[in-house]
Amino acid sequence: MQSFEFNNPTKIIFGLDQENKVGKEIAPYSRKILLHYGGGSIKMNGLYDRVVAALKDEGIEFVELGGVQPNPRLSLVREGVDICKAQGLSFVLAVGGGSVIDSAKAIALGALYEGDVWDFYTGKETPAAALPVGTILTIPAAGSESSTGSVITNDDGQWKRPVNSDLLYPKFSILNPALAFSLPKYQIGCGATDILAHLMERYFTNVEHVEFTDRLIEATMKTVLHNVPKILDNHTDYDAWAEVMWAGTIAHNNLLNQGRVGDWGSHDIEHEISGIYDVAHGAGLAVVFPAWMKYVHKHDLDRFVQFAVRVFNVEQDFKDKEETALRGIRALEEFLMRIGMQVRLSGLGILDDRLHEMARKGTQNDTITLGNFVPLGEKDVYEILRLAI
Ligand code: NZQ
Ligand code: ZN
Repeated sequence: MQSFEFNNPTKIIFGLDQENKVGKEIAPYSRKILLHYGGGSIKMNGLYDRVVAALKDEGIEFVELGGVQPNPRLSLVREGVDICKAQGLSFVLAVGGGSVIDSAKAIALGALYEGDVWDFYTGKETPAAALPVGTILTIPAAGSESSTGSVITNDDGQWKRPVNSDLLYPKFSILNPALAFSLPKYQIGCGATDILAHLMERYFTNVEHVEFTDRLIEATMKTVLHNVPKILDNHTDYDAWAEVMWAGTIAHNNLLNQGRVGDWGSHDIEHEISGIYDVAHGAGLAVVFPAWMKYVHKHDLDRFVQFAVRVFNVEQDFKDKEETALRGIRALEEFLMRIGMQVRLSGLGILDDRLHEMARKGTQNDTITLGNFVPLGEKDVYEILRLAI
């Protein structure tokens, strides 16, 4: 296990009706805020009205900016930055999923920066300041409610790029599992896939003697595997949603990667897919992860056997490690299909005509490698995408 320091400062407020506390949570930071949300789900399920009432109760003024699209766009971020600067707003409240939260984080960065906020996503600038952000989560998936990340898509050139900074930990995140009741089936599947992907990115490590975090990750994966089918049978199963929502936050709040080095190659490859084709992040991951596993499993067969046996209860073939590893990958694919995901690019309607372009863009013309478990150059990324077709 490697040495580490761990501090996740996001306050988690978990449970039924907890969104009614949002005004009180914001009050110590600001009296004038940006209220940021997506395409309208919060208006349809009544959450918007409750949030507005809670803000008014505390006398918190707000300017609203809705319309965040999945794979949040830079153009709307720029609009939010302009509003914050022009109106002197000093807090950003995100009500929604990972896209709304990431957009809010980007606005928080841009509001205290003179230049173009995209500079943080190209690596031209390192974040030095950000407005405080708070969130009310409506979908367990991206983990942005307690992460350092923000991923934004620049419509110009179809670039989807992340930035990470401790400044981007939300001050608080309100997690009411009942807010997820209104999610469509497809988004439930996408969210579950993303949670599993965050766990698998951390699981496949070259660092040895990480048994404790291995076991925590396995337990978190098993919780998702057990509860998501229950949710798909009954969308209003609060107890099952509670398990998945808390698992989704823990999967990505950095606890589970302490002392180890995660991979993240599949996430980087997925960002190339959703940057160009605008598919949901979880949908892209359902295609990339099994293909990545097929490409790299020989690098550490023992770890893949452990994954197969402990997470998917695969019967171990003691004479043939690779057979056991491959059974684990098949079990993952079968689970993803069972929860409504496509596990091939062709299933998403994506042809093989831009695979080279994605491999080239992702590796910056083969000048960088993706992932840590097995560093991937342009040719490797292309081969993985070909396996995914
Ligand atoms: O926009 P609305 O109308 O709210 O609808 C959304 C959206 O269409 C809908 N939805 C959300 N909650 C709902 C609901 N519909 C009904 N009832 C509810 N309770 O679901 C759709 C998807 O929402 P989105 O926010 O895009 O989903 P998700 O949370 O999966 O976020 C995906 C984004 O997060 C990024 C991804 O790349 C992607 O852009 N990620 C961010 C990370 C981070 N910041 O740490 C890490 C992740 O790996 C990921 O990359
Ligand atoms: Zn993800």
